[in-house]
Amino acid sequence: MTPVPRFHAGYGGVPAYTGRMTNSNIPAADPPGARAPLLGFVGGGNMACAILGGLVAAGHPADRVVVVEPYAPQADIVRARFGVRVEAAGDAALAGTDIVVWAVKPQVFREAAAPCAPHVGGALHLSVMAGIRSDTIARATGSERVVRAMPNTPALIGEGIAGLYARAAVTADDRAAIERVLAPTGETLWVAQEGDLDAVTALSGSGPAYVFFFLEAMMQAAADMGLSPEQGRRLAQATFKGATSLARASDESPETLRSRVTSKGGTTYAAITAMEAAGVKRAIVAALRAAQARARELGDEFGA
Ligand SMILES: NC(=O)c1ccc[n+]([C@@H]2O[C@H](COP(=O)([O-])OP(=O)(O)OC[C@H]3O[C@@H](n4cnc5c(N)ncnc54)[C@H](OP(=O)(O)O)[C@@H]3O)[C@@H](O)[C@H]2O)c1
Repeated sequence: MTPVPRFHAGYGGVPAYTGRMTNSNIPAADPPGARAPLLGFVGGGNMACAILGGLVAAGHPADRVVVVEPYAPQADIVRARFGVRVEAAGDAALAGTDIVVWAVKPQVFREAAAPCAPHVGGALHLSVMAGIRSDTIARATGSERVVRAMPNTPALIGEGIAGLYARAAVTADDRAAIERVLAPTGETLWVAQEGDLDAVTALSGSGPAYVFFFLEAMMQAAADMGLSPEQGRRLAQATFKGATSLARASDESPETLRSRVTSKGGTTYAAITAMEAAGVKRAIVAALRAAQARARELGDEFGA
């Protein structure tokens, strides 16, 4: 019987990631001539598959990967899709790994790390887990070479952005290796302080949900104005895509771009005036601060 994936209808019906990369500038997984690092993944779910699919598609040899995934149907899927070794337990299977990617839910990190710890003290560690601090990871793995990443869900189609923080023991070569591992998921951006990852979480980590919320509102308005759901969806989505592409292509601030299309007394002016009267900008800033505070709290809980 074909195993039923639990994750791959996953994030809002995003189809299973097959290594399709939409970024044109993704480098090869490893530098030419160098032996590909042996990668260990603890957890073979959504995020691991997003990273792994891209790496394998970019030429990282499947025999230089081991995945630890205890849920047998998911293990079968990962094995079949990527041709990599998948083990049920993270013990000696991880011995000799150069980079270990931690991609389990934060709640199970301690349990997942305990059997791995005796085998991964010499490895570079990359965590994509929300909220687990690098101190906790260093203690649990016996390695000071820890990088924390806060990715976001567009990583699942190669269009994410991940904030990265490195502990002091992480070398420049380690950073480059981590960037190569994450390149298939989209962009990366380093921050200097670990605490900045709480702001990254609030901005880009949780950010896709804010965009979906705005799309929801635009589509609701479209329906109220008599457009069909399909028309509303297409118009709202294309507007987001076009406006963000325009903002990226331009040297000007979003504020300048906005004022350009807001002639006094016009339609956009009417909309922006209504948003200002309703305190929309203030509410968005407060929402992000709430997300940042929650990220800090979760870090305290998981670090305890
Ligand atoms: N997906 C995203 O876009 C995204 C964005 C930002 C951050 N993250 C973070 O990335 C992490 C992983 O998220 P995800 O979406 O990839 O989760 P996920 O799809 O649930 O994957 C986690 C995988 O780890 C497995 N696992 C559980 N216990 C394990 C153990 N002891 N040893 C090895 N594997 C074990 C799970 O199997 P079982 O189901 O059997 O437990 C599951 O297959 C989370 O911390 C999340 O916050 C994800």
